[in-house]
Amino acid sequence: MEVPHYFVLFLSFIHICIITVTGKCPDKLPLEIDGRCYRLQTDIAQYSQAVDNCRNLAENSHIISYMYETPDKIAKEIKDFIVSKLEKAYFWIGFKMDDTAMKDLEDREWSFDFDDTKVVQKKYEVWADHPTESALTCAVMNGSRDFDVVAVDCGGPRLPVVCMKKNDPCKDDQKPYLKYGDNCLFVLSGALEYNKIAGACSPDTPTPVKDKKMKKYIVNAILNSFLGGAAFVGVTKMEGFYFFGSRLVPNNLWAEGEPNQDHDCAGLSLQMDGTVKLRTLSCNAYASSLCHIKGE
Ligand SMILES: *[C@@H]1O[C@H](CO)[C@@H](O)[C@H](O)[C@H]1NC(C)=O
Repeated sequence: MEVPHYFVLFLSFIHICIITVTGKCPDKLPLEIDGRCYRLQTDIAQYSQAVDNCRNLAENSHIISYMYETPDKIAKEIKDFIVSKLEKAYFWIGFKMDDTAMKDLEDREWSFDFDDTKVVQKKYEVWADHPTESALTCAVMNGSRDFDVVAVDCGGPRLPVVCMKKNDPCKDDQKPYLKYGDNCLFVLSGALEYNKIAGACSPDTPTPVKDKKMKKYIVNAILNSFLGGAAFVGVTKMEGFYFFGSRLVPNNLWAEGEPNQDHDCAGLSLQMDGTVKLRTLSCNAYASSLCHIKGE
């Protein structure tokens, strides 16, 4: 039986409609937004490598070359990835109890490595629960408890640490410090034994979490650390100006206080208010990246 010509045409017409409507994306760039395909590349790499990695995903794919705002779906993808990392995320804050006097638990003094300041247990406001066991004399932020602080055994499992620089400028040749509010922080994600943790931050020290306000900045640094600080996009600095592909970066895409002229690349990062915006980042930083297939 012969299939009428117009019927074949009709079928291919439907086929094209389905493709454009459902926006079939290649497996390696599965995130579809308005007919384009994206991928949050979560393997971290320096900028030039990230550019190559995006190119190798599919034909004509490349690091994202322009956008005028962060699409909700991309913001969600980034936040979902961060949330997937929170369980069992503990961070050392250089906080311990070495008060040997006979006292009620709640009256014992805890001290910060950072500046040797002390706080009485019952007056410390960032506990998840006030410690009730005298043997637990170290304290860490617990990612499953909104990053509130829990007392733990100082001989416990290895931990990562957030280091903090005491003095400006917030720049270091060895470690990728970034500014969060007034704090200059560096999240060292490798797990270290307790007695080596403080040394890993040397000549700086583990970040103290002294109150709830300070905690917010440190949590923001930790959340972004899962991205490597930010997700690189195709922004580069030329003669003092930041270009997104061939156009200037739209102003509203920058996070508060950015662009910081110290860095030549930029990426999307989670802001304190929950939005996802651009911050500058060293091109040598190891970070995630955002790839897409060119549709322009
Ligand atoms: C961290 O919080 C989770 C969830 O409440 C809990 O199961 C876990 O024991 C906590 N970790 C520590 C070391 O207290």
